[in-house]
Amino acid sequence: MGKLYPDSHIEIDGIAARYYETFLNLLTMGKYGRFIEQAIGDMEINPGDRILDLGAGSGYNARFMAEYIGEKGEILGLDISKEGIKQFRRKFNDEPNVKVENRRIDLPLPYESQFNKVLTSFVIHGLPHSTREKTLENAYKALRRGGRLYLLDYGEFELSDLPLYMRIPFRIAECEYAYDYIDRDWKEILVQFGFEEVESYQYLGGFTRLMTARKPGT
Ligand SMILES: C[S@@+](CC[C@H](N)C(=O)[O-])C[C@H]1O[C@@H](n2cnc3c(N)ncnc32)[C@H](O)[C@@H]1O
Repeated sequence: MGKLYPDSHIEIDGIAARYYETFLNLLTMGKYGRFIEQAIGDMEINPGDRILDLGAGSGYNARFMAEYIGEKGEILGLDISKEGIKQFRRKFNDEPNVKVENRRIDLPLPYESQFNKVLTSFVIHGLPHSTREKTLENAYKALRRGGRLYLLDYGEFELSDLPLYMRIPFRIAECEYAYDYIDRDWKEILVQFGFEEVESYQYLGGFTRLMTARKPGT
């Protein structure tokens, strides 16, 4: 299948999907796993939480989230990568409350007020902006009132301010959409989409960030 957005670098399949986390661990000199563990910890997941993971990849983040949800919680990952979905299913073979479906997150989704957390991790930066908007609409609709969106991605920074060991990988790996992503005011965007109580946590010296925002209501 051809790419949906030819200029995007996040449509990862095949060998790239199989070794995605290994590659990131090498690139970050072994810091990737600890960073994800910390960010998932900051999501304050409780037993019984129902979590939608938009662009779930191979289930690497879901593996950390699954430690918190207990028997009554659920995780539903959505992705379009055949290899990612295969790896995800392999990881959660014997855990019926953690599932993945092959679905595009940039088209209207059928979920309404079903989840109390929605995560999207290292996906939004790689989408054209109009497509990011569609994805945020999907997230908002899928959340229950009082539920929270978690946007784990790059922070807002000037590329020229980054140390070389971060600037070079960004330049090599990233597409034009990522440059646009780091220039935007994401707090303002989330508020425009109807979210409130926007908070953020920074990691790797501000190179990456977890933003969280609440859907109003109780
Ligand atoms: C950079 S990877 C991140 C994977 C995972 N969230 C993580 O943080 O490890 C981006 C993922 O988004 C998926 N993706 C890209 N465009 C998508 C779309 N339109 N609908 C669903 N998934 C998409 C890719 O297949 C890939 O698995």
